[in-house]
Amino acid sequence: MNVIERFRRSFPFNWGVTTIEFGAGKTQLTGKIVKAMKAKRVLVITDPVMLKTGIINSIMEPLKKEKIDSIIFSEVEPNPLDQIVEKGAAIARAEKAGIIIGLGGGSSIDTAKAVSMLAANPGSIRDYQIKEPFDFEKIKNHPIPLIAVPTTSGTGTEGNFWSIITNTENWSKMAIGGAPVFPGAPCIAAKVAINDPLLTISLPAFQTASTGVDAFAHHYDAYTANLSNPISDALSEYSINLIQNYLPIAYANGKDLEAREMMMLASLLGGISFANSDCSGVHCLAEALGGMYGNPPKPVIAHGLACSIFLPWMMEFNSMTDPVKHGNVARLLGENTGELPLTDRALKCVDGLKRLIRSVELPRSLESLGVKEGDLPAVAERATWNVSVESNPRVLTYDVFLSILKKAFKGWD
Ligand SMILES: [Fe+2]
Repeated sequence: MNVIERFRRSFPFNWGVTTIEFGAGKTQLTGKIVKAMKAKRVLVITDPVMLKTGIINSIMEPLKKEKIDSIIFSEVEPNPLDQIVEKGAAIARAEKAGIIIGLGGGSSIDTAKAVSMLAANPGSIRDYQIKEPFDFEKIKNHPIPLIAVPTTSGTGTEGNFWSIITNTENWSKMAIGGAPVFPGAPCIAAKVAINDPLLTISLPAFQTASTGVDAFAHHYDAYTANLSNPISDALSEYSINLIQNYLPIAYANGKDLEAREMMMLASLLGGISFANSDCSGVHCLAEALGGMYGNPPKPVIAHGLACSIFLPWMMEFNSMTDPVKHGNVARLLGENTGELPLTDRALKCVDGLKRLIRSVELPRSLESLGVKEGDLPAVAERATWNVSVESNPRVLTYDVFLSILKKAFKGWD
């Protein structure tokens, strides 16, 4: 499909809608924003690392300055569990929280989104799982207003209406949320996103790498998904190039503010892009793996790392379904594609991606991460449950997922 044909298609575009405050030092506005929103009590949802490192002070001090009463719930862990969401919602109700602030990586913000919704709606968080595309009418009451403050550059969840929560009944990941079904309808998107790149300066190199590749995966999935549209395409083309240029710098020198700013921008734009075009095959596999290998006693595999492991194989599998777009990805990743035939240009995207992964020194096989080969069929089965299976440009089946998992198990050099 060429650009003109894409422009002829009709499409909606919506991300919630969230006011974005982007820039170094913007967390200083937290107190003033909460005051303007007229909340009497704030519930801050975060993880223990934010307390230990003192990053939480970047929002607590501005809150104190405005004399805003706040309580902290800091039990979020990677790959957040439904049980933690239910506990957080009970606290939000008991404490009569007027605003929720989610501070941290994707896990904290996704938990905060789910808590803000569940505290204002009946039942279990599992009742709100989106099981069919566009089945977005489950949320009847407006969530407690949410302010999202990311401390990583990967998920972009501060910029959209999705939350991914682990279902502990079957250890799979649930998609919660969706676009508002009419203008002004209940929606779990944050009312405000405060994107302050200074909060990512101390992010360790491994997390910089894995979350940065997650941001790339959002753009790759969004750009090639069946529901991609001209606006999400523009966001993703712009951002893939940002990631290609700035992720290696942020990895090598975390104190480089320009690299941190550009990565935070690419991450935010990824959240907006995939909310309007969907994630696809890479995330079907990464979320399936994260359901089974997201919490002890099994090895905990970071979501972005899972994306990084699956990306080369899924890109290779998809490339001939849209060689123009895959050729564009190759070019945006810095590959020299000028004189090559179309199909060769498309396959070059895998070379560009591998170079990016090498530059940030991420592991390249499931085997090296402690995944058991005998678990691969169960991961493949969970991948088929994902609500985004049909968004992938090439048909995905259990056999396809298992074949990619077997390749990813051994990895690449
Ligand atoms: Fe992701």
